[in-house]
Amino acid sequence: MLSSIVVAALLGLAAAAPKPYSDNKGGHGGHGGQVPFKFPLANGFPNLSPDALKAVQKQAQGTLPNTAFPSHIEDTTAATFQLIAFNEIFEVAFFTSLINNITSGVYDVGKGAAKQIVLNALTAVQAQEELHAAGANAILKAAGRTQIQPCKYIFPTSNFDDAIAFASTFTDLVLGTLQDAQNNFGMDGDVSFIPLIGSVIGQEGEQNGFYRNIGGKIPSQLPFLTRSAGPFAFSTLNQMVVVPGSCPNANVIPLPIFGALTVETQNIQAKDQTLSFSFKPNGTAPENFSLVYINQQNTPIVKKPSNIKTKKDSVSFQADFPYSANLMNGLTLAAVTKSAGPFADADAVASDAIFGPGLIEIK
Ligand SMILES: *[C@@H]1O[C@H](CO)[C@@H](O)[C@H](O)[C@H]1NC(C)=O
Ligand SMILES: *[C@@H]1O[C@H](CO)[C@@H](O)[C@H](O)[C@H]1NC(C)=O
Ligand SMILES: *[C@@H]1O[C@H](CO)[C@@H](O)[C@H](O)[C@H]1NC(C)=O
Repeated sequence: MLSSIVVAALLGLAAAAPKPYSDNKGGHGGHGGQVPFKFPLANGFPNLSPDALKAVQKQAQGTLPNTAFPSHIEDTTAATFQLIAFNEIFEVAFFTSLINNITSGVYDVGKGAAKQIVLNALTAVQAQEELHAAGANAILKAAGRTQIQPCKYIFPTSNFDDAIAFASTFTDLVLGTLQDAQNNFGMDGDVSFIPLIGSVIGQEGEQNGFYRNIGGKIPSQLPFLTRSAGPFAFSTLNQMVVVPGSCPNANVIPLPIFGALTVETQNIQAKDQTLSFSFKPNGTAPENFSLVYINQQNTPIVKKPSNIKTKKDSVSFQADFPYSANLMNGLTLAAVTKSAGPFADADAVASDAIFGPGLIEIK
């Protein structure tokens, strides 16, 4: 078995400069001509017959947990698993589309061993995500809660490198949000799910090491991964990949959807700098807003926006990015908040946020 660094080398990517994914344009501008991805899959997913489930488990190299799920869960737990299902169903769509693009030759991934290693990895991931989604919905079903149905999706990527960089970024966001899920289960008393989520965090981390390595980055980005919160993950999915109005029942998920915050600065490098942002206010532009950065497990950093320019339907501004004092590598979430805080953690930022998250990836 060749190592993934060999994959990167075979793909001619190891020497390439890492391409930070920081162009969170929000909304769906520029993807108008794209045909949305629709479920069900050929195997029936999200409705898997017992035989189809067996085949998915074989492809995933493992099974759904065979333990009984509780018949009662708390409201916060239900909302958390609804968000997890909402996200995992999107991931199934994304990896199905990515594999199709590779096998049909839309994406050029070289050939021979390197292409096969990528396909082997993604084929397992695609089935593993089907089981993550099916598992979340099975937990909701066992507790008599609403299971999440698929939306239609478009993807902001049209070549292999960008698709892998985007997979790495949304996986980072998931890795931050699952920390929030564990916190929720600890707080509301449904602690039996904490180890289950721990097993998924490790699994998604293994995936991300592969995506980062393919992109020419080191596999482990930080000593302590960036924290996120449910509203940031829900907002990102709605802003970037969900076709508006296409979700049969995502409205049951009791989370806000923020307006998009666009990171205008491209190719953000590892240094102190001033970044440019913009958002489209819905009605009157907010007064006295702040820009907050969430990175690693550190206290969110609040910056006063400068150079604020309000045009007819958009607001642009700048904010300092204090890289060197904080070593802001890996994923940083940027959010516009109503107040200047201070904010204890990502949840506190989400409670006060109106636009975001802008997604910044360094190294
Ligand atoms: C697959 O290719 C289509 C057509 O170029 C593109 O619209 C879609 O975003 C691609 N999927 C992924 C996951 O990159
Ligand atoms: C914009 O504001 C209007 C009126 O307050 C509201 O009905 C609508 O849902 C808002 N749209 C968004 C995208 O927030
Ligand atoms: C904005 O900040 C100024 C100065 O701190 C203050 O006087 C004003 O009341 C604030 N406006 C709002 C809407 O909070």
